[in-house]
Amino acid sequence: MTEHSTPALDVTDLTVVFPTDDGPAVSVDALSFSLRPGETLGIVGESGSGKSVTSLAIMGLLPKAAKVAGSIRLAGDELIGLKEDALREVRGNRIAMIFQDALAALNPVLTVGEQLAEAVRVHRRGCSAVELRTRSVELLDLVGIPSPQQRVDQYPHEFSGGMRQRIMIAMSIANDPDVLIADEPTTALDVTVQAQVLDVLRRVQERTGSAMLLITHDLGVVAGLADRVLVMYGGRLVEQAAVEPIFYDTAHPYTLGLLDSMPRLDRSSDGSALYSIPGTAPAATTVTPGCRFAPRCAYAIEGICDAAPVPISQVAHDHAARCLRIDEVRMMRRGGAA
Ligand SMILES: Nc1ncnc2c1ncn2[C@@H]1O[C@H](COP(=O)(O)OP(=O)(O)OP(=O)(O)O)[C@@H](O)[C@H]1O
Ligand SMILES: [Mg+2]
Repeated sequence: MTEHSTPALDVTDLTVVFPTDDGPAVSVDALSFSLRPGETLGIVGESGSGKSVTSLAIMGLLPKAAKVAGSIRLAGDELIGLKEDALREVRGNRIAMIFQDALAALNPVLTVGEQLAEAVRVHRRGCSAVELRTRSVELLDLVGIPSPQQRVDQYPHEFSGGMRQRIMIAMSIANDPDVLIADEPTTALDVTVQAQVLDVLRRVQERTGSAMLLITHDLGVVAGLADRVLVMYGGRLVEQAAVEPIFYDTAHPYTLGLLDSMPRLDRSSDGSALYSIPGTAPAATTVTPGCRFAPRCAYAIEGICDAAPVPISQVAHDHAARCLRIDEVRMMRRGGAA
């Protein structure tokens, strides 16, 4: 993998607007990023920041009412504007998604094996029944389901929540996709099971070599799994860098706030409540001329930050932030952080 190879996924100026009774809701606003082959990019941000809308746009699964602009290229091929049958060819084959709610995504009246076989068959019409079954068992084995030969004939309700999420992962990699999108893959699970499922994701990615878009509100998950991080706020990119600089050379006040809201072992004993960023995120229908985070930001300069669009600045090589006070934030992080 080199810096100059074609990105597995290249998103440029992606904008998604929903018409609503309160006016247009700009859910994703001129978002650009790229995902290199085999790389894991974590997308983090509070609820409503546009993470899921971004992933649905990439999958071509947004409701018809959504207005989508910009470009989404999969290994160089433009996806925006593709006809539904062409999209279906791409989806589940070259690009696949792991949804948050495994129980809702699995069909209760079909065995796990039947559903895995169907996921493969859709894109590999010539496969025999024996080949499909062999592949289904192999996939269950890959995601760490014990006794896959027997369990392939069981129904979703016969599996625990964590096991069902593994089955979702198995379905998503059925056709060796180049890009895997995992939208909050572990939020519905308890902490121990979460760790196991993340481990499965890591192993599966090593085996398949696919690039991954890992969507989460949990910076801990990002730290364990991602190579790079994109922080979103109010539909916009606010900071993007490798994992290390995001944690130790933070350049955006919102990222600082997210880091401060993380539970930490060395703080839990003093009984103090977990920090949370004051205020609430703006609604997608709120129009702001300047930085969308300004009303909640301790660094904001009134009349400047909130008055005009804030451009994205290069902080360092492969590190960018949308802030006018990058230097102050970095200084604070270096001086003040443990
Ligand atoms: N179908 C829709 N119609 C109108 N607005 C929508 C629609 N889908 C999403 N939105 C709006 O788009 C914004 C982004 O939503 P999105 O689901 O992407 O957030 P998210 O970052 O995934 O949040 P969460 O962490 O809660 O999953 C929100 O303000 C949401 O209300
Ligand atoms: Mg979401």
